[in-house]
Amino acid sequence: MKILPSDSVVGEVNLSGDKSISHRAAIFSALSVGETIIDNFSTSEDCTSTLECLSEMGVRVERNGNQVLVNGVGKAGLKKPSKPLDCGNSGTTMRLLAGVLAGQAFESELFGDESLSKRPMERIAKPLREMGAQIETRDGIPPIKITGKNPLRAINYSLPVASAQLKSAILLAGLNADGVTIVFDPPSKAAVSSSRNHTELMFSYLGAAITEKVTETNGEFLYEVTIDANSELTAKNIRVPSDISSSAFFVVAASILPGSDVKLKSVGLNPTRAAFIDELNKCGAKIGIENVRTQNNEKIADIHIYYSEELIARTEPVIFSGEVIANILDEIPVLAILGTQMNGGMEVRDAGELRVKESDRISAVVENLKRMNAVVEEFEDGFRVGRSHLTGASVDSFGDHRIAMAFAIAALAANGETEIIDADCVNVSFPDFFDVIGRLTTRDPE
Ligand code: S3P
Repeated sequence: MKILPSDSVVGEVNLSGDKSISHRAAIFSALSVGETIIDNFSTSEDCTSTLECLSEMGVRVERNGNQVLVNGVGKAGLKKPSKPLDCGNSGTTMRLLAGVLAGQAFESELFGDESLSKRPMERIAKPLREMGAQIETRDGIPPIKITGKNPLRAINYSLPVASAQLKSAILLAGLNADGVTIVFDPPSKAAVSSSRNHTELMFSYLGAAITEKVTETNGEFLYEVTIDANSELTAKNIRVPSDISSSAFFVVAASILPGSDVKLKSVGLNPTRAAFIDELNKCGAKIGIENVRTQNNEKIADIHIYYSEELIARTEPVIFSGEVIANILDEIPVLAILGTQMNGGMEVRDAGELRVKESDRISAVVENLKRMNAVVEEFEDGFRVGRSHLTGASVDSFGDHRIAMAFAIAALAANGETEIIDADCVNVSFPDFFDVIGRLTTRDPE
């Protein structure tokens, strides 16, 4: 894919449904009692992988454009799949389904593509084994073989990493346990869940007995969530908000290209996901939040972004580190592009988790920025970028959708043409990304 620089981005976009929420809508409605209509379901390949795995286990799924009808089978009603379940590129599919399958009394196997086959799975295998399921991995990575058990043993579990996938896998297994399962976040300086809380919000929307609590000791907060196995999920229609992580590409493009003005409608603004917007506004960005409302327990709003000279002119480096990292993790590749356009640059630390995403995102960002002549330094847990004049180059997506899209935004701000190798991987989360970019970009007639 070749991309030319652009003067500005202008227009209005209805982004496809949030990927994290769509996965949960599909899985939770499959486990519920009754029929669910899901609207604005994500068009991503990742969420299609989830639907296909559910179909393999006897769930009737009908898809009509962005609307999906799911016929729930109840929390322990899945059927043994006749073959291993293909999770494609999707870590969320694999980790959440592992939690579900641990509590189904049959044998199953989950596998994924080359990238997913390298990602750590021991973090979910350990608690699920403690709950009584038999879990085998290939030295900690996929495929995962599961011999489920019903009921599982309810446990108290302290998360070693602030991971929503891990937390959700345990809560899903907890639905099929013999009592109350409690999951604790790592202790934190903030009195909220350290990772995204879509599972908690949707469980509660569907009537599960889930409680959240935060306790304070010496200025440190401990977030805990409990799920009572007496819970049933009751089918209820779900409308998925537009994807805030996809919105980040336009937030950055509009913030750095003079004259830009972009409006994104009905975007999910869950506080555990929206931190990058607050952080950028603190640095002088012009991101307006309009028409705030709640939809199926999730906060949503329209986002209006203008170019901001103040953001670009900021001389102090922006530093992202510590607890905010878990809330901005998926947006960091494109935030790095913003950093290259800011006078004071940007530094990201405590983000070692980026190395075990769809690619090693620290090394992918640093490598591609170097190819575009950026000032950049790599650390084990992050990177530092300085104000740079980006030049068009051949960059590699490393098969990672967020790297491909981040560097498409870099290309808009660069001098000359940029080629993104293996750009088709955007389909994993945002199949019409390049069409939308084409529609929003403007170029001075030469
Ligand atoms: C996700 C959680 C995050 C995120 C991923 C989606 C989810 O991963 O990076 O894109 O839907 O729960 P971790 O739980 O591994 O941090």
